[in-house]
Amino acid sequence: MTKNKAIIFMLLCFTLIVSACGTKPAATTADKPATGGDAAATTPASKDSKLEQIKKAGKIVLGTSADYPPYEFHKEINKKDEIIGFDIEIAKEIAKDLGVTLEIKDMKYEGLLAALDSGNIDFILAGMTPTEERKKNVDFSKIYYTAIQRVAVRAEDKDKYKSIDDLKGKKVAGQKGATQEKIIKEQMPDSELKALGKISDLMLELKNKKVEALVVEQPVAEAYLSKNKDLVLADIKLSTEDSGSAIAVKKGSSDLVEAMNKTLDRLMGAKSIDKMVAEANEQVDTQ
Ligand code: ARG
Repeated sequence: MTKNKAIIFMLLCFTLIVSACGTKPAATTADKPATGGDAAATTPASKDSKLEQIKKAGKIVLGTSADYPPYEFHKEINKKDEIIGFDIEIAKEIAKDLGVTLEIKDMKYEGLLAALDSGNIDFILAGMTPTEERKKNVDFSKIYYTAIQRVAVRAEDKDKYKSIDDLKGKKVAGQKGATQEKIIKEQMPDSELKALGKISDLMLELKNKKVEALVVEQPVAEAYLSKNKDLVLADIKLSTEDSGSAIAVKKGSSDLVEAMNKTLDRLMGAKSIDKMVAEANEQVDTQ
């Protein structure tokens, strides 16, 4: 019996050792879901939709390129430099409807999409056209305003440059990163494209005879030309497709787009955007 007991005892010990070895891998596997569980616990917060994140933060950050009257531009008001324009008025209405404050970041047009992607800004209002190419990387609201493309030239050259052909081999300018760059490449393939970051610099290039023509959207051209009598709109016809403006947000923010479209519907329904455009035009003073 004692011998038997000893054998049973030894067997028990052996089983214990084996099962102890067995528990090791079992414990590791059991650890894994636990770690996964930890990660999952933090995800709900970061899984907040963009709209929820904005509401929690109590502010929304607008990215714009304020070289684009009457859309957005700088003006000294009460000795203070302010960014105004009808895009800014729309942005204010969006912030108001969301119940948050509006912060504005002014940057070069060509840098806006990257800033949206990195989360540096929450939305773009900058006369941005919702092209198919851009739609691959960002979401757009509905179009809130449509303009046509025009060609600006020096007043003395108006009779010299009457068609795209007349600009063959000549330098034509457009804003860097803007659809105008593509329009020049595609519709004026025999002209030489000069792309610069700011519309004001492009206007100077034209005035200073560094380029022969400038492709720009009509309202913007008119805003600059009203103060620059040496520049005029040429009779050159360009295709006007792809010239609407929409709000851009980070891809996948469908609830934010929906909220913004509601604000746009309200403003367009009341013809408020037309009024905002007219008011912005009255405030334009570009030298
Ligand atoms: N509509 C053009 C585009 O989408 C030009 C917009 C330029 N906007 C500006 N704020 N400079 O590329």
